[in-house]
Formats: sequence, structure tokens, C-alpha cells
Amino acid sequence: MTEKSAQLTLGETTLDLPIYSGTIGPDVIDVGKLTAEGVFTYDPGFVSTAACESKITYIDGGKGILLHRGYPIDQLADNSDYLEVCYLLLYGELPNAAEKEKFESTINNHTMVHEQLRGFYHGFRRDAHPMAIMCGVVGALSAFYHDSLEISDERHREIAAFRLIAKMPTLAAMCYKYSLGQPFMYPKNNLSYSENFLQMMFGVPCEDYEVNPILAKAMDKIFILHADHEQNASTSTVRLAGSSGANPFACIAAGIAALWGPAHGGANEAVLDMLTEIGDVSNVDKFVAKAKDKNDPFRLMGFGHRVYKNYDPRAKVMRETCHEVLGELGIKDPLLELAMKLEDIARSDSYFIEKNLYPNVDFYSGIILKAIGIPTSMFTVIFALARTVGWVAHWHEMISGSYRIGRPRQLYTGSPQRDFVPLDKR
Ligand code: CMC
Repeated sequence: MTEKSAQLTLGETTLDLPIYSGTIGPDVIDVGKLTAEGVFTYDPGFVSTAACESKITYIDGGKGILLHRGYPIDQLADNSDYLEVCYLLLYGELPNAAEKEKFESTINNHTMVHEQLRGFYHGFRRDAHPMAIMCGVVGALSAFYHDSLEISDERHREIAAFRLIAKMPTLAAMCYKYSLGQPFMYPKNNLSYSENFLQMMFGVPCEDYEVNPILAKAMDKIFILHADHEQNASTSTVRLAGSSGANPFACIAAGIAALWGPAHGGANEAVLDMLTEIGDVSNVDKFVAKAKDKNDPFRLMGFGHRVYKNYDPRAKVMRETCHEVLGELGIKDPLLELAMKLEDIARSDSYFIEKNLYPNVDFYSGIILKAIGIPTSMFTVIFALARTVGWVAHWHEMISGSYRIGRPRQLYTGSPQRDFVPLDKR
């Protein structure tokens, strides 16, 4: 924090607004005292608004940098594993060997879900979107784990975090099994986090399931790349829900709902649908033209980002992983060729260049998920599973510090006060 200030003149009054500096990144102007002057700031979409202070994740959108607790995402993706990144996000430091082992074993001890939760699934149609089921069952966890709902108790918050991280793969895989009409698979705690997820997704009780290490590694990388992304729509939703004192399971369910939209986590599903619709390299130009047409609502899914005005660093890793996985599995996917062609055209087109529209994390992740065998409807669920740690870390950071209920104001443009008109006079 510094002693800098900005002056704002409102009629006859000049206000001194404090300016704060973070460790890196843009300064922020504290506008908290404006309300006493009878004015609010106006920033739809929160384009210029920092809603909180945080030590978890830093993004430099201009340079394409993403740091978790200071560590660049590509270094984490290359050298770490998902549970280690979870530890880093939650506790602020990489674990030593003993801490890592203890954390992994704690998460393993929480992977099963209450048997009665299985009954919830049967209340949904078999063709329900898995994100709809996830909103319901994750919110329902609060009805089962009463012993971790006291949010002012740090230990309760920690146990809720363990439970959420550990149970998400189980709940996610149950969505898939339910859609197939296959039995739910119990977790196996001798497997790693991503191996276990694949086992619960693709194993069946009547056969041994052997996890393909290439797929498990790719899955783990996808989890790492989606683990956190500072104050995006779903994380801000979790913080806002949490600011009212709501329990952590309810807050994460709110985050899942916010993630579902195609402008956010739903984009990975939309990318694959789009590539399938484009169908052939010969149609790419037509779709690029549609994306550029102001009168056409079509957008190139997997392109553009509110914060990145450069290549999304996650997309870089995802692109490499995509080639690695398809290469190692010997898969020749025409959708990958189509995706690369689309990227080439969009990257050389003045519309995309001028608007700084680069591929984002979702552009290549769908192709990897498809190669792993995950159905398109589950893509956003995978994102939710991986992002749970980010949501929990932000929720925990907020609750452990000083916070107030989030309550934005508005520019009212409705009718001024008027008298009620009886029905016979309208
Ligand atoms: N295709 C074509 N034009 C685009 C695209 C696109 N994908 N994205 C933005 N634009 C244009 C947009 O029409 C606008 O043009 P103009 O200034 O002439 O009106 C300009 O670029 C700025 O777009 P915006 O909608 O004002 O930007 P935003 O920051 O509000 O939206 C976004 C960001 C990610 C919602 C948007 O780029 C988009 O809809 N992309 C496609 C969906 C997508 O891939 N989402 C995943 C985001 S990354 C994962 C995540 O965070 O969940």
C-alpha cells in the first residue's frame, strides 16, 4: 500500500481518493468514500473494478502471464501435479515431501460420498445435463456434512475444502455413469487423483480397469490448467455468495451455476460443437466471416478473453498437450486439423488481430478431453471439478480476512415515484 492519491472533483468538492499498489499489477483507486458524497461508480461487467484484495493468483493479460502464488502456470503444468497445485493455492506455498504425502492421504480419505447422496441422482432424468445435476448434488452436500458448516471455525473451513476437492471427481463421474445407466463406481484410494477419476468414469464393477498413464497425465494437466483464474465470473459468484455467510457447499454450487454459461466454462463444450458444425476445413472461411459479421450473433468459441489480450498461457500448454496426447495415442483427429486451420486463419485476420482475440484455454482442451473419451456434455463438469480448489481458496481467503457482504449499487433508469392506479382506471 502506498500514500499515493487521486483527486476527483465533484462540483465544488475535490476528493482525495487513496491509491493502493499491489506487489505487481495495476494500482487501484479506493472509491469507497464516494457513496458519502451521494454518487457511485458505474462499471458494468466490472471491467475496471477490483472487488477484493487477494494473494492467490496474478494475471498480466497484456503479456499473457498467469501466476499461482507467484509460480508461472507453465512451470506448474510441466513439473507439478494437481493435488500439489491444490495445496499451493490453499496454503500459499508448495508442500514439502511430508506435507505433500499428508495432504494426498487426507484428500484420499474424503473421496467417498454419503450413500444417501446416490439417491439424489435418481431424481434426475437420464438425459439431464450433468452441470444441472452438479449444481444440485454439490449444493446438497451441505445437507450431509453438518460438521463442517461453521464458517468462522478455521478447521471447519479446512475440512469443507478437503471434502469438496476430494468428492468432486466422485460426483462428476457419477453424473456420467447415471447418464449411461451403469453402476456408480466407488473411488479407489491407491490411485492418484486423476487416475481415480478415470477409473470412476470408465471402469465397471465386473472388470478390472487399467488406467492409461498417458491419459491420466493429460487429465492431471487439464486439472492444473483450470485450477484457478483470479476473479472470473464463477469465482466472483462464489465470493459474493460467501460474503452473506452462506455455507461453502452452497457457495460452490453457485459457482458451478455461473461457470455453466457458454461465455465462461461452457465454452469448451461450445468449441467442440462449433468444430463439428464447421465440419470441414473448406468451411472455415465462411465461419470466420460469420464471426466477424456484426449482425450475426455467432462468435468463434474458444477465442477472446476479458483479461488476456495476448495468447492465453494456458492455451499454449493445452495446444502442446493436445499434440502430445494425440501423438502418443496415435489418434488422427480431423477436428484437431480443423482447429489448427481455424487458429491460423483467425491469427492472421485483421479483425482478430486488432481486437486481440487469441485462442483461450477452452480452444484445445475439448480435443484432448475427446481423445480421453470424455463426452462433450461432461466438458464443463471437468472444468468445475478442477476449478473447485480455486473457488474454495478464494472463499477461504475472504472468510479468513475482513469482509463485508457484497452489495453493488445501480444506475436506476426506471420510472420515478408514481401513485398506484386501480385496475378499473388502467
Ligand atoms: N469471436 C468473434 N468476435 C469476438 C469474439 C469471438 N470469440 N470475442 C470477442 N469478440 C469481439 C466482440 O464482438 C467485440 O467486438 P466490438 O468491439 O466490435 O463490439 C470485441 O471482440 C470485444 O468483445 P467483448 O464481448 O466486449 O469482450 P468481453 O471481454 O466482454 O468478452 C469473452 C470476453 C470471452 C466472453 C468473449 O471473447 C467471447 O464470447 N468469447 C467466446 C467464448 C469463449 O471462448 N469463452 C471462454 C473464455 S476463457 C474460459 C473462461 O474464462 O471461462
